[in-house]
Amino acid sequence: AQALDTRPAFPPPSIHARPVDRGAWIAAFRHVRDETESRAAPLSPEDQQIQSMPDASPTKWHRAHTTWFFEQFLLKERVPGYTVFDERFFYLFNSYYVQAGPRAPRISRGLVTRPTCDEVAAYRAHVDRAVAELIAGAPEGQLPEIAAIVEIGLHHEQQHQELMLTDILHAFAQNPLLPAYDEGWRWPALSQRPGQVALAGGVGQMGHAGEGFHFDNEEPRHDVLLRPVTLDRALVTNGEWLEFMQDGGYARPELWLSDGFVAAQTEGWEAPGYWRSQDGVWSSMTLAGLRPVDPSLPVTHVSYYEADAFARWAGRDLPTEAEWEAASDSLDAGFGHVWQWTRSAYGAYPGYRPLPGALGEYNGKFMVSQFVLRGSSVATPHGHSRPTYRNFFYPHQRWQFTGLRLSQYGA
Ligand code: AVJ
Ligand code: FE
Repeated sequence: AQALDTRPAFPPPSIHARPVDRGAWIAAFRHVRDETESRAAPLSPEDQQIQSMPDASPTKWHRAHTTWFFEQFLLKERVPGYTVFDERFFYLFNSYYVQAGPRAPRISRGLVTRPTCDEVAAYRAHVDRAVAELIAGAPEGQLPEIAAIVEIGLHHEQQHQELMLTDILHAFAQNPLLPAYDEGWRWPALSQRPGQVALAGGVGQMGHAGEGFHFDNEEPRHDVLLRPVTLDRALVTNGEWLEFMQDGGYARPELWLSDGFVAAQTEGWEAPGYWRSQDGVWSSMTLAGLRPVDPSLPVTHVSYYEADAFARWAGRDLPTEAEWEAASDSLDAGFGHVWQWTRSAYGAYPGYRPLPGALGEYNGKFMVSQFVLRGSSVATPHGHSRPTYRNFFYPHQRWQFTGLRLSQYGA
């Protein structure tokens, strides 16, 4: 009898490991592809169709776009005589890669009622088969390059797995029935330690070095000058956020950046996203439907503008991404609860070069006007994030699971 292989399928082996373990790569591919379908499974075809705002995408679109990614960047390039599933899908499911060809407008994704969910499932099955056959049968010499594209395709699909949850939460929050994505969904248990992590300051380093997977925006590793600073071990909680609200935080212009105050006024922000009050009691729309706000849990669905105002109200700071990374070993819930806004603008590290070709558009062209978030969230697939991981969103956005931790200089 063959011994059971108990290694987790994800992450796959290093792309530098030789010989390339074809079976492990196929297992990693299947694992990630299955997770996408598991996340879609509770949703009806009607649920999967909706685009509730321009920033969010339909579930069906996520399932198709992640499939397009393998067809566009792997199969079309590497499989001689590859039979395209449907030529029109290159237009429909290209998100933003200008160099890859024309693409459907982002804001109209909800209008794409055809292909149907069943047809998207068939598209996924077609591409799944072709990728597995390619990994199983490609000449040895081509495997390293194939594995590298499969690897980025898997991490790409995991990013969309997170978006599937945040996007359906946004859609369900607009539905008067406030449907639950999963009645049994709960915040993971979290005991937060009080106290701070102290960084001595001086010349430190940040960025990814070594062979493990990382996105191009995590490189190159480089020197940074750190001031002495302390970072709270704990994330800011709903209870603390309620104090900010009760102290008039949303209505006090002296606490806000100008753009942030305009956003708060225009959007009518008086609480974090998805919060609503009835008879003075706050509840919040979650993946399990409407739930009472638990004061002990990390606050989430706050924008950078709100995080910044909160820090000013508290007389504290938001850490820079370099500080966050330097302290990451010692932070509670560094990974797994909410993405944490940093005060760092999303930009290129010194010496950064995007990947060549259309894949160079993946991260690099967004390096303006956004802020970096560190950590990971309750929606992030297991094993996806790491201490050097740079997430990024515009400062007004708050439909992701975004929260904050505070810091203080010279303390
Ligand atoms: C890193 C989450 C901002 O949502 O556009 C998905 C992830 N990149 N496909 C995004 C991503 C390409 C990206 N974020
Ligand atoms: Fe994408």
